[in-house]
Amino acid sequence: MAARRRTRPGGFKKDSWSDHYTHAAQKTGYPARSVFKLQEIQRKFRLIKKGRRVLDLGCAPGSWLLYAAELTGPRGWVTGLDLKAVTVSLPPFVAAFVMDVFSEDPADWDAVGENFDVVLSDMAPDTTGARDVDAARSLQLCDQAFSIAQARLTPGGSFVCKIFFGADAKAFTETVAEAFAGVKLFKPAASRKASREIYIVATGKK
Ligand SMILES: C[S@@+](CC[C@H](N)C(=O)[O-])C[C@H]1O[C@@H](n2cnc3c(N)ncnc32)[C@H](O)[C@@H]1O
Repeated sequence: MAARRRTRPGGFKKDSWSDHYTHAAQKTGYPARSVFKLQEIQRKFRLIKKGRRVLDLGCAPGSWLLYAAELTGPRGWVTGLDLKAVTVSLPPFVAAFVMDVFSEDPADWDAVGENFDVVLSDMAPDTTGARDVDAARSLQLCDQAFSIAQARLTPGGSFVCKIFFGADAKAFTETVAEAFAGVKLFKPAASRKASREIYIVATGKK
């Protein structure tokens, strides 16, 4: 099925895990606390610049989309995709598609486009609580995000990917490192200490 564009205004669900960052996000108008993780990544690595094109994989409920759009400004372009619809109101230069990152429908990918300067993946599987299962599912999403980054990033572009650290995460990081000039691992302060999530930040696509 072809991707459908969703830019309807509307509300958002409260995170079940309510903490300092959740309240702060809600106060500043973002639908999820995850915005603070991208803000920290941006402060440290300065990946998203005015006028650039950003692809956000796993973009719902839309915090990263909104923050990336502030950084690119209207001369840039931000595209997101997620299994779930984004219901917050988005600027006209932001498009959010309801689709699976594993979609094999070329019409979906035509709609998403290519030649992005930055590919972000904050995708997370539905967690089971079983560490190995969750890490394996996270790795599948990371592998797919990496394939998309390779196909749709411009040379010199950047890739940010959340991964649940597990047995194969090191090998994945090494694979990413071969395709980029630089790779760092980054754990934002806004990420719960108990969570095994970490962000791979790769710059300078070869
Ligand atoms: C932590 S949330 C992303 C939050 C987002 N960065 C924000 O700031 O609003 C992870 C998202 O990954 C999405 N996701 C998981 N598997 C996916 C898949 N196969 N295709 C597309 N999105 C997926 C989920 O639906 C979920 O909305």
